[in-house]
Parts: sequence; structure tokens; C-alpha cells
Amino acid sequence: MVMLIGYNKVRTAVFISGSGSNLKSLIKFSKTKNSPISINMIISNNSKAKGLNYGKTFKIKRKIFKFNKKRLVEEKLLFTLRKNQINMICLAGFMEILTKNFIKKFKGKILNIHPSLLPKYKGLNTHQRALNNNERYSGCTVHFVNQKLDSGKIIIQKKVKISKNETKVSLAKKILIQEHKLYPKAILKVFSLQRKNQFRS
Ligand code: GAR
Repeated sequence: MVMLIGYNKVRTAVFISGSGSNLKSLIKFSKTKNSPISINMIISNNSKAKGLNYGKTFKIKRKIFKFNKKRLVEEKLLFTLRKNQINMICLAGFMEILTKNFIKKFKGKILNIHPSLLPKYKGLNTHQRALNNNERYSGCTVHFVNQKLDSGKIIIQKKVKISKNETKVSLAKKILIQEHKLYPKAILKVFSLQRKNQFRS
């Protein structure tokens, strides 16, 4: 993975579709001294996404891209990202599948958070599926995005115990709290590994 390292933080875009609570935790993290990234753009496929309000609060550029003609929209999106010198992408509840072409252009630089212990329960409706299978644990995963849905290299995971009377709503809440801690940890891990590799060469 080639990214800028040094005094400057890596310019990052966060892609969202909904409430943006992971976005908020990433913004807070990005403002700490320890953070190797800065959040410079918020991208959404949904103009009504609540999370877009964080752009206003924290004065971060927001852009909405309606994914009706995917290839065309992605070309425009790539142009915008390049124009804004974005070097890394964090997907945070972004409910759109990016094309192989797009992913190739940001190879090794797109991270995603998923609310299950991958490789279990890829895709949607993870919590209900975990409950239906009487799982004792679920959790969340941060992984690199590759061309197969929720299948890229796992960076870090957090296990969460499923209680007796768990519902998909209570489980989602419990896991979301862990997600907010896990995403920053994953970013630190990615960059510390990268530094070590650099020292080696
Ligand atoms: C999070 O639980 C995230 O893991 C999930 O959507 C939620 C977004 O919450 N992502 C996916 O399911 C992606 N397949 P947020 O908007 O409050 O961060």
C-alpha cells in the first residue's frame, strides 16, 4: 500500500449512507495527535443521510453522488476525490457496492467496517442472521476492500457476546458501540504495519 506518511496526515474521505455514527467517531479520532489521517471529505449516496450533518458541524466538505448510472457516477466521484487529493477511503455504513474499476483505482486504500465477525454473515441483515443461527457471539470487523463483497483482508475484529434475550436492535446497538472504538484502532494498525515495513526496506 502506498500512502503519504510523514508530518502530513493522510487525506481521507469517509463514505456514508445513514446516521454516520462511525463517521463521527472517525472525525473525533482524526483530530487527535495520534491520528495518521485527516477527514477532508464526506461522500454520500443518500442526500437524506443524517450523518451529512457532521460535515456542517465539523466544517468538512460534503458531496452527494446518486448512484443511478454507476460507472458514470464513479468517474465523477474519482475526479472529485483526486481534485481534493484524497488518498484513503473509509467506508462507514456505505450501502452501495463499488465497482471493480473504482476499487482498482484506490487499490489497498479502501477500508470498510462490517457488523459481523467476517467471514461470517457477509452482506445485509447480519444481526438477524446471527440470531437465527443461535450464535453465542457476533461482533464487527474492519477489513480492506477488494473486488469481492466483504471479503478483503481482515485488519481487526471485536467479538461481542449475544445475550439470552437479544434482539437484532439490541445487538446492533451493542456492536455499534464497539465499532466506534474498532475503526480508529484498525487505522492505527494499518499505519503502524506500514511504518514497520518501511523501516525494513
Ligand atoms: C454500522 O453498523 C456498519 O457496520 C454497517 O452499517 C452501520 C452504519 O452505522 N455497515 C454495513 O452494514 C455495511 N455492509 P453508522 O451510519 O451509524 O456508522
